[in-house]
Amino acid sequence: MQDFTLEVHGCHEYDKTGAISEPIYLSATFRHPAFGQSTGYDYGRVANPTRENLEKSVAMLEQGERCWAVSSGMAAINLVLKLFKPGDHVLLSEDLYGGTVRLANDIYSHYGIEFEFVDTTDMELVSGQIRANTKGLFIETPSNPMMLISDIKALAQLAHANDAWLIVDNTFLSPHFQKPITLGADIVVHSGTKYLCGHNDVIAGFLIVADKEGAAARRVELLAKSEGPNLSTFDSWLMLRSLKTLGLRVEKQAENALAIAKWLQKQPQVTAVYYPGLPEHPGFALQSRQAVGFGGMVSFKVTSAELAKNVLARLKLIAFAESLGGVESLLTYPLAQTHAEMPQELLARTGLDDKLLRLSVGIEAVADLIADLQQALEG
Ligand SMILES: Cc1ncc(COP(=O)(O)O)c(C=O)c1O
Repeated sequence: MQDFTLEVHGCHEYDKTGAISEPIYLSATFRHPAFGQSTGYDYGRVANPTRENLEKSVAMLEQGERCWAVSSGMAAINLVLKLFKPGDHVLLSEDLYGGTVRLANDIYSHYGIEFEFVDTTDMELVSGQIRANTKGLFIETPSNPMMLISDIKALAQLAHANDAWLIVDNTFLSPHFQKPITLGADIVVHSGTKYLCGHNDVIAGFLIVADKEGAAARRVELLAKSEGPNLSTFDSWLMLRSLKTLGLRVEKQAENALAIAKWLQKQPQVTAVYYPGLPEHPGFALQSRQAVGFGGMVSFKVTSAELAKNVLARLKLIAFAESLGGVESLLTYPLAQTHAEMPQELLARTGLDDKLLRLSVGIEAVADLIADLQQALEG
């Protein structure tokens, strides 16, 4: 089945009522038919039919064997970092969502796990930083917010040759455009809050594994059951509803993003545009091979920090807000928002500075978005 079909139907099976919309099972616990018997559902923290339908549908879209729907993207990344033990070494893309950097540096490093940041677009650099105790490579591609493209297939081969896992945060593209597991990734995570939700109204996360019998899956199963990070039933239903329009939304967002990126390139107040769908982007060829779309995120730099702040204040249609992936266009100032706690050294390495703006393109008419950006840039 193709993605557009899978997104609408997922794993939905009709119950005796024939309900087209997935029923919401708002039940915390489930009756046992008799001693030693179960309907397959015992207690809501462990399994709930609505959440399970969502998990199965997302696993199908990512072509993974098993998925867990959790309360946020950070809850999913938290489960991933819990897979490592004291003494393990983990390499991460140096351009990465600030919250992931904070979780690694300020929380998990206290438990004896060693984290190192590397430019994962450079295979030689990554190979040079692999150690005997390297157990994981964690990447974003495109990365947040500099839109760098890393080679998923090559990194998976490198990770496996060293007995490590490749973990891909697929938030920026969604499975509609990129399926890291088909390229060799072991684990995929999402901030489901973003494209998978698409309406800026649910905070959610997903963790998908390639192999449901593997060590990672067994550990995540234990963690999810024991710690209870799971997504609520009602939010699971909202996410199921969101998935139905995933393809329509992201295709329109990507179309708008390309038009805006091309327009930004011509503006005198704009000094750089970062969008992998532009043929001059250094990751264009690789992205064209490993994904079927370029996404709806465009970062750009303006001539001064003062202008960047003025643009944010002058916007009328596009909202100055954190987050991304929704139908409403949002403009973010990464240095003070999503990447506020990023170590100085990483900011310098990636070029994330006070002139950078990150646009999450929505599904509005592109001419209206461009008109808003134009009046904000011109003042
Ligand atoms: C790429 C990426 N991964 C993970 C997260 C964290 O997700 P959440 O905010 O749903 O916890 C974000 C949030 O902005 C993100 O942009």
